[in-house]
Order: sequence, then structure tokens, then C-alpha cells
Amino acid sequence: MKRRDFLKTGAMVGAGALTVGLSQNHVYGADAIKIGLIGCGKRGIEAAQQCVKAGAGVSVVAVADPLQANLNAAKTALKASKACPGMGGCKEVLSDAQVNLVILATPPAFHPKLVSDAIAAGKNVFVESPAAICMTGTKMVATAAEQAQQKKLALMVGLQNQYDAKVTETLKRIKDGAIGTVLAAQCHLNKGSLPAVKKEANETDVAWQLRNWQCMTWLSGESIVSQQTHQLDIINSAFGALPDSFRGQGGRVNYRAPEFGNIYDHMGVELWYPGKNRHVICMNRFIDGTTVRDEVHIAGTKGTAMPGKIMGAAKWEYAGETGDPFAQEMIELVKSIRAGQPINNGKQAADSTLTAVMAREAGITRNKFNRSFYEAKITQNLIPPADLKLDAAKPVPPVMLTGKYKTPGWPGGGKKRR
Ligand SMILES: NC(=O)c1ccc[n+]([C@@H]2O[C@H](COP(=O)([O-])OP(=O)(O)OC[C@H]3O[C@@H](n4cnc5c(N)ncnc54)[C@H](O)[C@@H]3O)[C@@H](O)[C@H]2O)c1
Repeated sequence: MKRRDFLKTGAMVGAGALTVGLSQNHVYGADAIKIGLIGCGKRGIEAAQQCVKAGAGVSVVAVADPLQANLNAAKTALKASKACPGMGGCKEVLSDAQVNLVILATPPAFHPKLVSDAIAAGKNVFVESPAAICMTGTKMVATAAEQAQQKKLALMVGLQNQYDAKVTETLKRIKDGAIGTVLAAQCHLNKGSLPAVKKEANETDVAWQLRNWQCMTWLSGESIVSQQTHQLDIINSAFGALPDSFRGQGGRVNYRAPEFGNIYDHMGVELWYPGKNRHVICMNRFIDGTTVRDEVHIAGTKGTAMPGKIMGAAKWEYAGETGDPFAQEMIELVKSIRAGQPINNGKQAADSTLTAVMAREAGITRNKFNRSFYEAKITQNLIPPADLKLDAAKPVPPVMLTGKYKTPGWPGGGKKRR
């Protein structure tokens, strides 16, 4: 993607959420917004509750989840009239004519196919971040975003920072030149261990791994994707561009017990942005007993910034209200659907997610490569099989070892420029 196009399609957070022109087909006005929730875990129930509170006439009509206990809990908590069990429950929700807004909050690997199917079924969509965990998935989301725009449907990816005034005000100031030309940034997400879930006696492999998705690369896409896409979305917006090249490292120091699946517990990746010496460091660590750090810093020729603060000649600190961005994104979503100008941040989210996906591949392989090379050659497809069964045997895939693991599509041999 050319820088010009990126800027055009809404690199700027907040303003970046694309809206489409007034629709004759999908203006809900005061009509009921009927939610179908797919993925009834912690965030799914919370997102649905926030959506119900976001405007009058919003209710949950159907819920789907393959894990019966979660399904039952969501049906009760959300007062849904219909519960759709099993791995096929999502299809039942998508074919329910009453449902006009689908909330997707499954483990990230399932998101792209569900987004595509939901837009194809003519539903407005809210999908939790990350919207995908591989390039195949990010392409599906970008295509669905185009289709949503044509069909005048909402496609909101849950990058709640885009609705946090502290963040959007800071990015607006950066875009207006408050720190000069953006040259560098760093983002850190350092905290305790991921919430690993032990396998219960008689529990099937797939059922356990779905509960323990954060520790399974095939479901989460690694923490850099499942958690740091938010930070990288802010950084891409500050640069007004996508990175040109990547180099990284990572490992698994502390995750010894089987419940830690096959994920890494730390990663550090360098990203270079278009222009001379425009450089970002993205680091994470998920190890108990270590210092917590959850920060984004941006440096320019005239100052530095972090969400809510500019340091330098154009010194500024956010003094406005600090609401709940998770609640705010739902308010904006409902408002946009009702006004016939449905929010569509699908393309921007696909780009930020792909940034995180490439960062992961650099962190695991420790290879340096260019985005153009990755987009031309890499064939990685981590969409789970359509016929995945809850009672299937599925041993935990091996940890992807640096030097042995190759990103699918990576050409062998030679010292060609990548
Ligand atoms: N925006 C944010 O900051 C933020 C915060 C928390 C979670 N999330 C995202 O929300 C999603 C859910 O996270 P969570 O913490 O609620 O996890 P969770 O494990 O509590 O819930 C996931 C639910 O999805 C269900 N599920 C699994 N496979 C499914 C399938 N194929 N179809 C339907 N349901 C399926 C599980 O049974 C479970 O009930 C994740 O994608 C996560 O990245 C985003």
C-alpha cells in the first residue's frame, strides 16, 4: 500500500474510522438493534452489555458458543431468547433474520472467517481485536471491509483506543506537527504470565485449547498480535504509514508447564518506517515477578509524545474527561448505524493487525525482511479448519523454534535481499 493511500484510508485514529455515505437500506433510526453474540466469554458478554447500554432499543436475541457452560451463562446474563450450541452455533446466529448486529468475541483465529460470513449475510459487525492472526486473515478482513462499505454495513474492529479522547487528541496534535516529523517510537507491554488454563480430566484437546486460547499460537497468533495490535495501531497512525521492514527476536524462558501451550513469553521487534532512520521498537514480556510496563512513546524532531501528553515546544497535557473507551466505541457504533453512516475501520485494523503479524514472524524467525517481500511471498494461512470438532484429538503443536521454523512461503537458500 502506498503511503498516500494509507493516509487516505484513514491512518489517523478517530478520524480514521471510515464512514460511508447515507444509506437507504440500513438506516435503523429508532428501530430495534438486535444483537447476535458469537463467543460468550468474558469480553463477549461485556461487549454485548456495553452495546445494550449504548442506546435505546438495543437487545441481545441470540448467543452462540461451543462451550455449553459459557453459552448458558451468556444466555442468562444477556437475557437472550435463543442459545445456539456447538461449533455450528455461529451459523445459526448468522442465518437468524432477526439479528442485525453481530458481536464476534471468539479466540482471534476464528475472527476473519466469521467477519466475512457475517458481512456476506448482511449483518453489521463488531469484531474484537485482533481481527485476524495471519496475512490470509487480514486480507479477508480488508475484503470484508470493502464489501461492508458497498453494502452500507458497519464493520467495527474493537480497537478501543480509537475512541479514547486522550489518544485521539494526541494523535491529532502529532498530525498537526506538535512534535515535528515523527522519527521514532517504542511500545512496551510487560506484565505477569498469561492466564494459563489447566486441562481437566476427560476434557477433549480442542475444548481445553479453546478455553486456553491465549497460550495456543494457532488460536491467539501470539501475544504480540493478540495484545500489541492496539499499540501498533497508534504507532502506525502517528507515522501515518505502515512499516517497510522488520527484524526481531523472542523466546520462551519461563513457560515450562503444559498449560502454557506453545507460545513465547517475550518478544522484541524493530520496525522501520518509510523515510530515513524512522525506527520503532516493540517489546513484550509476560513473566510473573517482573516490572509492569504498558506504554507507547513517540519521538519527533521537535518533541516527544505519549497518549495524553506532548513534551517539547508544544507542551500539552490532556485535561478532558476520561471515559471508558470500551463503552464509547459501542455508543459510536450504535449511533453510526442509526444515522445510516456505519463505522468501518476494517481496513485500518487489517493493516495494524498485519503489522503485528509480520512483527511476530520476525520475532520467531529472527529474520530481517521487507513488508513488500512478505506480502509477495508469504502464504501463511492460520484460519482454523471449517470442520473443527470440539471432541477432536489435537496435541499441542510444538513451540516454533528459531532456526527450524520457517514462515510458510519463505523461499529456501540464497542470500537474496528479503
Ligand atoms: N479490545 C481489547 O482490549 C480486548 C480485551 C479482551 C479480549 N479481547 C478479545 O476478545 C476475544 C475474546 O476474549 P475473552 O477474553 O472473552 O476470551 P474467553 O476465553 O473468555 O472467551 C472466548 C469465548 O469464545 C468461545 N469460542 C471459542 N471458539 C469459538 C467458536 N469457533 N465459535 C464461537 N465461540 C467460540 C469460547 O468458548 C469462549 O466462551 C479475543 O479475541 C480477545 O483478543 C479484546
